[in-house]
Amino acid sequence: MRSYRLIAPAKINLYLEIIGSRADGYHELAMILQSIDLSDEIDIHAASTENIRVYCDHPQVPTDQTNLVYKAAALMAQEFPRAYSNFGGVDITIKKHIPVAAGLAGGSTNAAAVLVGIDLLWNLGLTQSELEEFGASLGSDVPFCIGGGTAIATGRGEQLSPLQSLDNLHLVLGKYRSLEVSTPWAYKTYRQQFGINYIQDSEGLAARTSAFHSEGMVKAILNQDTGKIVQELHNDLEKVVLPAYPQVLQLRELFASQTGVLGTMMSGSGPSVFAIVESLTQAEIVKQRIREAISDDDLELFVTHTIKHGIKIV
Ligand code: C5P
Repeated sequence: MRSYRLIAPAKINLYLEIIGSRADGYHELAMILQSIDLSDEIDIHAASTENIRVYCDHPQVPTDQTNLVYKAAALMAQEFPRAYSNFGGVDITIKKHIPVAAGLAGGSTNAAAVLVGIDLLWNLGLTQSELEEFGASLGSDVPFCIGGGTAIATGRGEQLSPLQSLDNLHLVLGKYRSLEVSTPWAYKTYRQQFGINYIQDSEGLAARTSAFHSEGMVKAILNQDTGKIVQELHNDLEKVVLPAYPQVLQLRELFASQTGVLGTMMSGSGPSVFAIVESLTQAEIVKQRIREAISDDDLELFVTHTIKHGIKIV
């Protein structure tokens, strides 16, 4: 086949705990990541030239070498020079539905789709764990986005342990279109304010990571206990993002006050906020009420749900 179309789902963080600093400058994390139905579409075509070209009509998405999608294709060309010279370059078109710079791994999932797409296009026959390894060199969330579903993510976020899927949990998600939170800023600010509490020694970090595997949120997911899941929602980055972005705090509080909302949390480094609701009908009602309460066109609202897959070929 000379072209593939891939579905690239967004993710939310049901849990994000910052444990300490790493020697590579990143943070040691304990997270639960969850794929959601809100997805981009990636078309990947074999090009007649050697070029890697990225097309996207979204004004906030660059199409040059800074796009993670471009970097993913360049990485594959570098790793597999023979396939690259046999098959040539690629044309990649991104149809954006996932809000940009939102804490939803939009760029990471697009890059994950390109790794999967080029593997198919060039007949490389890579395993999921080989693809995840390439993904980890592009960004901490890329490995998860390949397989998706529900998973514990530790280390930088790239070490994955799959969990029983949380399929069809209903969600409403909000993001101010023009509001972008820089992930490096969020982690840097967290380190400045809370670094004093970090676990310092490597044994302590390892012990915290392994304890996490038997704790509240993991158990709640294994038991498919929505009531417990919503009690265990946690995101350390809220401590720095919410005070700095009052609009995000207001949206979160508004979600929390709605009938039918079981729990609410910011995703990743924000600024998107999601609410877990009882049913699809409740989700539509909550979306409507938020729209009435905040009549700002800049606020995008989505009704979506959790899914059990990552990158999918259509
Ligand atoms: O890995 P990724 O490129 O998505 O990370 C973006 C930024 O977020 C990093 O440059 C770093 O500042 C911060 N980060 C971190 N610790 C992690 C993941 C991300 O400090 N585990």
